[in-house]
Amino acid sequence: MSMPQVNGDFESSLPLIGTVVDACGGDEGISQCFRSMLDQKLLWTRDQYRPIGMPQRVLPSPLLSDAEGLKLWRDITRLPTYYQTEGEIEFFNHYGHEIAGMVPPNAVLVDLGCGDVRKAKALLDHLEQLGNSVCYFALDLDKASLEHQMGILTPHYRHVRCFGLWGTFDHGLAWLNDQAFNRPRFLMSLGSIYGNDHFHDAVKSLEQLRTTGFHHQTDKMLLTMDGTQDAAIIWRSYHDHAGLFEKFIRNGYKHSNRVLNQQWYRDEDWDFVGLIQQDPLMHRFVIRARVNVTCPALKLDFPAGTEIDCYEAFKYPPDLMRRQFAMANFHEVGHWKAPKADLHHYLLVPSEDQAPMAI
Ligand SMILES: C[S@@+](CC[C@H](N)C(=O)[O-])C[C@H]1O[C@@H](n2cnc3c(N)ncnc32)[C@H](O)[C@@H]1O
Repeated sequence: MSMPQVNGDFESSLPLIGTVVDACGGDEGISQCFRSMLDQKLLWTRDQYRPIGMPQRVLPSPLLSDAEGLKLWRDITRLPTYYQTEGEIEFFNHYGHEIAGMVPPNAVLVDLGCGDVRKAKALLDHLEQLGNSVCYFALDLDKASLEHQMGILTPHYRHVRCFGLWGTFDHGLAWLNDQAFNRPRFLMSLGSIYGNDHFHDAVKSLEQLRTTGFHHQTDKMLLTMDGTQDAAIIWRSYHDHAGLFEKFIRNGYKHSNRVLNQQWYRDEDWDFVGLIQQDPLMHRFVIRARVNVTCPALKLDFPAGTEIDCYEAFKYPPDLMRRQFAMANFHEVGHWKAPKADLHHYLLVPSEDQAPMAI
């Protein structure tokens, strides 16, 4: 395995600063991708979807992230009860300088599911202060939102160069792997994204990320996971008085109508329910059919009482996250807890004997 080089090819292959790279094949490409996720998890066009051995209808979470969904998400993350965002920002205010010092010089940063980049900005500010000439790629699913984030970020920095990367995680990593970017990578999964799944699925996703996202022995990933074990705090964070979470989830179902080109989902047909489950502790939302719901064009026939899952939020504490990392062949080289919340930040590298080959 080789060490990354800093070379001239890199500079000439960079996109223009502040632009958004289309890694997904445009509106058509991203829409096809959403369609195939819906085929697999909601419509079951081939087989039943059985994430834990039992059939389950699920709205894939990327459907939540259209322009309206991301706007609602920005509002949710500003609610005083939604401790996750404030807690992570506080973490960066506290430890950002230390973390920034662990980012290799001239690294390529990839923010997997960047959202409104508020947390990443807290880290980028420290990198700017250190004069580390990193390239920051903000990867997410909505192009207009990425353009908006670029407009906010780029005027702030001289050393840090920012780019948007439009597509799914797979699209974004495939695009990066095609570039002549022989630089160390620093991946970021902020806001409990990777690791947040049924245990074995979470391990599978992490393993896949290790093989596609890591190329050098100096590559690292900062991963955050909410390990809160107090069910009352968790409940309050998902059940706000203004009903923003409900609007957010229902908006995802309306988005699926547009992707499928059929109005199979109508608000009035479905109750909205939140549930806390133990072993492992998690919160999930389901919609439950009030009436029989049919859509012949999609071959859907849901009897009253049918439940569809959405937005599963697992609360894995450090011991379970460490089991995930070991099973996915990651080695933990750093761990921090946010000052006031049970939010854990792990710095990971591929295990020595599993380290991938350099490109
Ligand atoms: C829980 S939010 C976290 C946002 C941000 N990282 C933060 O901590 O505030 C998840 C983000 O990941 C994005 N996302 C979810 N699934 C994705 C996928 N398969 N590919 C790319 N982005 C995805 C969503 O659009 C959303 O912005």
